[in-house]
Amino acid sequence: MKIGFFGAGKMAEGILSAIPNKRDVVMAEKVSARAKELKARYGVRVTDDLKVVAKAAELIFLAVRPQDVDAVAAEVKPLVGAKTTIVSIVAGKTLKKLRAAFGTKVRLVRVMPNLALRAKAGMCAICPGPKVPQAAVKAVEAILGGAGATVVLKEKDFDAVTALSGSGPAYFAYMEEAMAEGGVKLGLKPAVARLLAEQTMYGTAKFLRESGMDLGAFIAGVCTKGGTTAAGMVKLAAPSFKKTVAATLAAAARRSAELA
Ligand SMILES: NC(=O)c1ccc[n+]([C@@H]2O[C@H](COP(=O)([O-])OP(=O)(O)OC[C@H]3O[C@@H](n4cnc5c(N)ncnc54)[C@H](OP(=O)(O)O)[C@@H]3O)[C@@H](O)[C@H]2O)c1
Repeated sequence: MKIGFFGAGKMAEGILSAIPNKRDVVMAEKVSARAKELKARYGVRVTDDLKVVAKAAELIFLAVRPQDVDAVAAEVKPLVGAKTTIVSIVAGKTLKKLRAAFGTKVRLVRVMPNLALRAKAGMCAICPGPKVPQAAVKAVEAILGGAGATVVLKEKDFDAVTALSGSGPAYFAYMEEAMAEGGVKLGLKPAVARLLAEQTMYGTAKFLRESGMDLGAFIAGVCTKGGTTAAGMVKLAAPSFKKTVAATLAAAARRSAELA
């Protein structure tokens, strides 16, 4: 199956890197330096003409910024038909808006990815539009599954997904920054503090994923009575922390709904 990309930016590269056979891929990118870079790095075909991709590929990732979607759609609409599946990773573009832009014939799938797919550890929520055959959904899951975890969800969940896993990498990096800065205040060198914070977050997430352990039981297990973690937890577990996190996600979800 030929796989296409409208736009070959950061997120497109993350998905591309997980596709085993790059000879099946054709990308459209208007920045020529970027096109050259991807050709050199992956040996992939890159054109500056969206129509080439629209004609050649059956499954096409829409990976331009939200403000560019209508222009892309206007150009390719006559060329994408009932056998084309467009997989949009564009934040805030609902299936309804995509349908209005690309027309009623084409199959549409909406995906909310996150930046971690650039490290093959992304989180992608997938929502197939009506009448998308199961085989096409499976193909999308297989491609994105190569770049991390996937989950199929209803579109009504997408504002929450955008807030949690879409925006989440920035919130995690902020937590890492806070931990590292706390380490520096205790006398560690900044690079050492960052390594300690990052590896601790990475290793904890890895362990929790692999063990599937209950979060409360894990925390209780680390917080032995009278110990160091318990002393710190008294500060962290003040009600304001979880409230702040919940308010953070709520603000992001509200903004996602406004943009949709
Ligand atoms: N970054 C994230 O964490 C994240 C998370 C979830 C979803 N997303 C979504 O992913 C999408 C892509 O984001 P990104 O960060 O990968 O953006 P990006 O790096 O800016 O990549 C988009 C690329 O598409 C090119 N382009 C625009 N119009 C084109 C056209 N008509 N023909 C060919 N190429 C065209 C752009 O060129 P110009 O720069 O010249 O316009 C740019 O190189 C966005 O819609 C975003 O909402 C991103």
